[in-house]
Amino acid sequence: MMPSRLPLRSVVRAAATWAARNAVLWPALVRLQNTSRRGDPWLRVHPFDADHGTRTSGYIPAWLLRAGRPGDAGITAYAGCQPSCLRAALRSIPNLERRSFLDLGCGKGRSTIIASEHPFRAVVGVDISPHLVRIARRNAAIVAKRFPHRPPVIIGEGDALDVPLPDGDLVVFIYHSFGPDVLARVVDRLGEATAREARDVFLIYENPVYGTVIDRHRAFRRWFAEHVLCDLAEAPFQSDDGETIVVWRSTRDGRSAAPRGADRSIVVSKPGWRAELADARPAALALCLLEPEIPENGSAASV
Ligand SMILES: C[S@@+](CC[C@H](N)C(=O)[O-])C[C@H]1O[C@@H](n2cnc3c(N)ncnc32)[C@H](O)[C@@H]1O
Repeated sequence: MMPSRLPLRSVVRAAATWAARNAVLWPALVRLQNTSRRGDPWLRVHPFDADHGTRTSGYIPAWLLRAGRPGDAGITAYAGCQPSCLRAALRSIPNLERRSFLDLGCGKGRSTIIASEHPFRAVVGVDISPHLVRIARRNAAIVAKRFPHRPPVIIGEGDALDVPLPDGDLVVFIYHSFGPDVLARVVDRLGEATAREARDVFLIYENPVYGTVIDRHRAFRRWFAEHVLCDLAEAPFQSDDGETIVVWRSTRDGRSAAPRGADRSIVVSKPGWRAELADARPAALALCLLEPEIPENGSAASV
């Protein structure tokens, strides 16, 4: 009988997962990974961090975020959202004071800090990576000390597939956190919760690469769709001039018409990574003409 052999790929994968979950090795692995991305705008220290004294900058690939949970299979990567884009999406939603904010894939917590600028009943972020959860909690504590009047930010470690939802009406935020299978299951969960408990749920999807999954779901209808140009000060810290943002609202009467302009088709411009709206380019081109100056300060984001 032939001795059984473990395929090399499984061994390498198991070793990588072990190393990625090790709290001592992890910061060094992130720094090592960053050496291959020199000049990447996502690695620069974002003005948001300079303003708040937080550490939310950087880019971390999926293999360094795995946690041994079912959702590992869908992880995209870590990168913080552009504050001006999330603020624009939040401006489109009525009665924030009656809702809780939930970020499914909160990373280092930049989005939850932005949400805490608004009068939400509660602000909750959940991430699958224990390393990012630690960082997000540290960031939330820094902001809570500086702005004690804001709603407190609660950061939980968990998988979007089974994490408990806050009670009542919600604003759920997803910044291209996972692939289509995990997204479909998350949207099913949200749809069931709205049907069972008569909740009003807004779902914000920034960079909606798999937005058609939500377009096809009976429990949600479009509310808002824009290619939001980010503030000029933020432009040098990401790979485009802004972000496509689509917002859906729960509906318990089946499908109904989307508000004017919110029904534009989502076009995937870079498979798995980048989504645009079908007719969004003219605005983007206008901003390119302004050509914001890219700072030479290549200071890399610390882990
Ligand atoms: C692009 S980052 C977004 C960070 C944050 N929302 C923001 O806007 O600043 C996506 C995050 O989703 C997390 N993630 C991916 N799959 C997840 C899952 N199944 N459950 C919870 N978090 C997940 C990743 O660890 C990563 O931090």
